[in-house]
Formats: sequence, structure tokens, C-alpha cells
Amino acid sequence: MAEKQITINYQEFSSPDQMSAQDQELVRAALEAQKGSYSPYSQFQVGAALLLANGMVVKGANQENIAYPSGLCAERSAMFWAGANYPDVPFNTLAIAGSDHGVLCESPASPCGSCRQVMAEYQKKHNRPLKIILVGSKRIRKFACVDDLLPFIFDSLTLH
Ligand code: THU
Repeated sequence: MAEKQITINYQEFSSPDQMSAQDQELVRAALEAQKGSYSPYSQFQVGAALLLANGMVVKGANQENIAYPSGLCAERSAMFWAGANYPDVPFNTLAIAGSDHGVLCESPASPCGSCRQVMAEYQKKHNRPLKIILVGSKRIRKFACVDDLLPFIFDSLTLH
């Protein structure tokens, strides 16, 4: 038996000003994307902005439904739209911003397990790290790849 640890790396910024111009732009787009949220049940507005390798930014927002499980998270709405419309264009960076009753969370909202799994799928599909930016009002976290949000990714049907 061996005790083992996993180290997760990420960067934390206290303001978008500390980020690259491209990342700042994506943070702005994620905040803007919150306007498309349809969240009458949770009052939690999530916006996602996905930068594609061709420079396009695809936006998504959470879409809820009276039959709760029929709703979809912001991240997946952006990724599925990009996957459907630009199947051959790799994903570069995904920024996510969540607000509770219209107020941006101080510590950024963290993607659910299903969204992380979908991120992992596209990262593998395009064979390119997908960077993730989680936007909060006091803290912004940046992850260099999905593996840092989802260790021990299930990405193969070959079981070891
Ligand atoms: N939600 C997202 O859109 N993304 C996340 O990362 C977490 C949760 C949505 C789902 C639901 O519409 C609302 O936030 C409350 O869970």
C-alpha cells in the first residue's frame, strides 16, 4: 500500500487587470453571456464564453426548465453549440461567471461534474489542453487544462 497525493495547479487573480488582454476579453464575454441566462427557478445566472482556436468566441448561458433535469448548464450550452457548429475547430479557453440573484459570486462558481466531463471529452477530441477561467468578483481562477479540475478523468473505454 502507498499513500499518494495529487497536486492541482491553478493561478488566482484578484482582478481581471492582472490577466492577459485576451483573457480579460473572455472574462468580459462570460459576464456579458449571463444576460442570456434563463433561470427562473434557481435565480442563479451563469454565463460562459468559449474561445475557439479560430479566434471566435461562443457564448452560452444556463437554461432551466420546470422539469428541472431538462435544463442545461451554461458551459455545456456553449460547448455543445461550438461542437455542433464548428466540429473541427479546437477549444482554447472557457470562461465561466456565476451570479446569485444578479450578484456575481465573490468566489467563482465551479463547474458541475457533468460539465467537467464534457470539457474533458472536447479536450481529448481535439488533443489540445482546454484552459478554464472561473470568474468571481474577488477571485478569478485559471486552470491550464481540464485535468486540474477533474483528476482521474474517465476518457477511455480501455479499463486498466
Ligand atoms: N449552473 C451552470 O450553468 N453552471 C455551473 O457551473 C453550475 C450550475 C446552473 C444550473 C442551474 O441552472 C443553476 O446554475 C443552479 O444550479
